[in-house]
Amino acid sequence: MKKKTVRTLRNMKERGEKIAMLTAYDYTSARLVDEAGVDVILVGDSVGMVVQGHDTTHPVTLEHMLYHTEIVARGVRQALVVGDMPFLSYQVSVEEAVRNAGAFLRVGADAVKLEGGEEILPVIARLVAVGIPVMGHLGLQPQKVRALGGYRKMLYTDEAITRLVEEAKRLESAGIFALVLENINAEAARAVTEALSVPTIGTGSGPHCDGQVLVLHDMLGLSHFRPPFAKAYLDGARLVKEAVGTYVREVKEGVFPEER
Ligand code: KIV
Repeated sequence: MKKKTVRTLRNMKERGEKIAMLTAYDYTSARLVDEAGVDVILVGDSVGMVVQGHDTTHPVTLEHMLYHTEIVARGVRQALVVGDMPFLSYQVSVEEAVRNAGAFLRVGADAVKLEGGEEILPVIARLVAVGIPVMGHLGLQPQKVRALGGYRKMLYTDEAITRLVEEAKRLESAGIFALVLENINAEAARAVTEALSVPTIGTGSGPHCDGQVLVLHDMLGLSHFRPPFAKAYLDGARLVKEAVGTYVREVKEGVFPEER
């Protein structure tokens, strides 16, 4: 299968072909997800929650993200690999953002993702100018959860939808190649999707986006907490516990290993 690029995604939107995106954080899961045909693999800073066990993504460092991006990229043949820039790796200065985003490309990412709107337009424009593809992220922005007072659905009124669409258009003008819309009402996601030429990728934002993204551990039913919108395609926690339980029993009973 041919390696996907940012152009592939734009062509998919033009053809009306939906984009399937999942997170991955390590070589083995990235290889499986890639072989199963996912279009985009996001090395999300959600690693802080589903792998590191934190309540927020704030403790995730640039070094953590570069490590996970490198081991994911090693397992991928065809999907576009997007590295998620962690808290404070792009908000302090444009120079620092360029250096840090460049480090993602050095370890194998094809692009980076940044949360935010107006406040990061100069950063996006500079990254794009130096050749670093940028995926935007509006709606619920987990890096701002403390200011928001918790994780919650962002319900946009008609007036707020107009402002959201304007902000999304400014991100598009700054050069983003795709936009994640997290946990917003379906009407707002539809308005943004119709207004942009670049694809929108929704999570918890209804069916009208050009693509969907889920956290791998949620869709495999492995997470200790799964948001209500995240469909589980496997009862992973039960299957893992059953297998491990069987192993423990067989070791204790002397059933495994068999004598050869
Ligand atoms: O970090 C992450 O997994 C994300 C997705 C939920 C879009 O940002």
